[in-house]
Amino acid sequence: MATAAPPTDPAPPETPAGRPAADPILETENLVKSYGQGEARFDALRGLTLQIGRGESVAIVGKSGSGKSTLMHLLALLDRPSHGVVAMDGRPVSELKAKAVAQLRNETFGFVFQQFFLNPAQTVLENVVLPLKIAGVPRSERRRRGMEVLERLELAEKADNRATDLSGGQKQRVCIARALVNNPTVLFADEPTGNLDTATSAVVEDILFGLNRDEGITLVVVTHDEDLAARCGRRVELQDGQIVSDAPVAAPAAGAAPGGHMATADGTASRAAVVGKEEDR
Ligand SMILES: Nc1ncnc2c1ncn2[C@@H]1O[C@H](COP(=O)(O)OP(=O)(O)OP(=O)(O)O)[C@@H](O)[C@H]1O
Ligand SMILES: [Mg+2]
Repeated sequence: MATAAPPTDPAPPETPAGRPAADPILETENLVKSYGQGEARFDALRGLTLQIGRGESVAIVGKSGSGKSTLMHLLALLDRPSHGVVAMDGRPVSELKAKAVAQLRNETFGFVFQQFFLNPAQTVLENVVLPLKIAGVPRSERRRRGMEVLERLELAEKADNRATDLSGGQKQRVCIARALVNNPTVLFADEPTGNLDTATSAVVEDILFGLNRDEGITLVVVTHDEDLAARCGRRVELQDGQIVSDAPVAAPAAGAAPGGHMATADGTASRAAVVGKEEDR
């Protein structure tokens, strides 16, 4: 993968590269993202090289302002780097036309954000099937797939509710349903549990990690929550727009799932134990 920076710009600093991944689905090389110009220029990412392997669960952690969301937006093709390369399946994204990038994003990625970004004027189902509508899927097929994913997240009975008339945990599950409706290969989550109480966070985390474990979805989670990071397979720490550590996460001790709730025999958290409580909300 070659980095092509215009000759007039200063070369980005060489910084420690992240761990190489066996079967990279997403890669960055010497990624630089600057906001503003001249005196006001701020380099949010300063030469960041990272590989994310297919099926990995990666936590991106670091202090506020370290560049986590900026990195996630670039990986998710929601924004373009100032310099450096983002590649998907080995192919630099800059080689693709804007329409192809939009299609790749819509068909390959799912997004879960801390702010729910649900359309208050629409029902739960309408919010969930938005990516299918964008992809031009016919209405009846949209409904079928939307209901299927709402069933999986135990929200089918809320399908015709207005999206705003839900609890925080339910809203977050609607966002996860919307992220899943296209059967994404990669799920990006930016502070997915930041607005939720402990029990509801556990439900949302269990859903995310269940998808990673059972369906091989690649999970990229931006978080301040070290317990959540500890459930990922790998922890990447940013500081001032650079990677300062990148290491596998040690497997949790048997019977002690992070988050303080019951663990099952394989070390994963028991969803049933918390779903019931959440439903009472
Ligand atoms: N549109 C923008 N214009 C100017 N500066 C920006 C812009 N977006 C982000 N920044 C700056 O870039 C840096 C990285 O921002 P980013 O949102 O990636 O941080 P973060 O690690 O996600 O922080 P947090 O944990 O608070 O969400 C910050 O210093 C921020 O002020
Ligand atoms: Mg952020």
